[in-house]
Amino acid sequence: MSDAGEFWNARFSATEYVYGTEPNDFLKSQAHRFPANSKVLSIGEGEGRNASFLAGAGIQMHAIEASSEGAAKIAKLAADRGQQITVMQQDLNTYTFEENTWDGVVSIFCHLPSALSAKVLPSIVNALKPGGYFVMEVYTPRQLAYGTGGPKDSDMLYEPDDVRRWLNGLELVHFAEIERSVVEGTFHTGNSRVLQVVAQKPLVGWPTPMAGEGYIRHLDGGYYRRLGIGRDADDENALVVYAHVWPFEPYVWVRPQSEFPGRFTEVTEAEVVAAMKEDREEAGAAVLAAKALRRAKSSS
Ligand SMILES: C[S@@+](CC[C@H](N)C(=O)[O-])C[C@H]1O[C@@H](n2cnc3c(N)ncnc32)[C@H](O)[C@@H]1O
Repeated sequence: MSDAGEFWNARFSATEYVYGTEPNDFLKSQAHRFPANSKVLSIGEGEGRNASFLAGAGIQMHAIEASSEGAAKIAKLAADRGQQITVMQQDLNTYTFEENTWDGVVSIFCHLPSALSAKVLPSIVNALKPGGYFVMEVYTPRQLAYGTGGPKDSDMLYEPDDVRRWLNGLELVHFAEIERSVVEGTFHTGNSRVLQVVAQKPLVGWPTPMAGEGYIRHLDGGYYRRLGIGRDADDENALVVYAHVWPFEPYVWVRPQSEFPGRFTEVTEAEVVAAMKEDREEAGAAVLAAKALRRAKSSS
C-alpha cells in the first residue's frame, strides 16, 4: 500500500467516523451544481460522508480513496443508507483521469504533496465534461497558525495562486481564501483558514494560448491575455481574440493579427501578476497619459 494509504489506514481503523457522517458545509452549499443522475467523482473521499450525501441527492457517485480502511467505510456507510457508490481504493499517484468524463469532481480536504497536486488538478480540468464543475475546500498555508486541523507540512497546504494556475482552463465561479469555523469530527476543530473553489469547464473552449504567448503588453502599458485566433493563424488577416486584464475593467477585443507587431510585446504571467500589485488608479492614469501623448505625436 502507498504511504498515503498507510497513514490514513491508521487514522480510519477506529469504528467511529473521524470526520463524522455529515457532509462538509461548503460542499453542501454547492451541491446544487450537480443535477440528479450526473456522474461525480470525489477524490480522497475518506470515510464516505461527502459521497454519501451526494448519492442521497440522486447523483451517481464514484470515490477514490488511498486507504483500504477508508474505502471499506465508504462502502459500509453507503450500504447502511441503501445507496450505490462506486469505490476505487487507489492512490492518486497512479490513477489515470479519463478525459471528458465527469459532470463534477469534488475535493474536500484532500491534501496532496504539491508535486502531486500539480499533476492531479490539471488532470481534473481535462477530465471534466464541458459545463462540469470542480468543487474544492482545502486549508491554505495560513492555517498553520490556527492549529485547528490539516497537515503540518506547508507543502501539502494550498496557496491560492498555485491552485489558480493548476486550474487553468476552468472559469472560477467562486474563489476565496476565508476564515471560517470548521467543526467536522475529531481532527477539524474550529476557526480555520481555507480556500474555497467552485470552477466550471466552459461549454465552448477557447483555443489554449501557445506557451509563452498567453499574455501581451500594449505599448501604452495595459496588459492583455491572448484568448485565441478567430481565423486561420497562417492567414495574414487572422483575427486575434484577446482580453484586457489590467489596469482597466476586463473586456474582450478582436483585432487583425497584422496590427500586433510593434504595438504589443509578449510578457510572462509573472510580469502580469507583478504589475497587478501596483496601484490600479495610478497605473490606469499612466496608460491614459501614454496613449494621449502617442496620439498627440502622431497627429502633429
Ligand atoms: C483529511 S482526509 C479528508 C477526507 C474526506 N474528503 C472528508 O472530507 O471527510 C484526506 C483524505 O485524502 C486521502 N488521500 C490522501 N492522499 C491520497 C492519495 N495520494 N490518493 C488517494 N487518496 C488520498 C486520504 O486517504 C484521506 O482519506
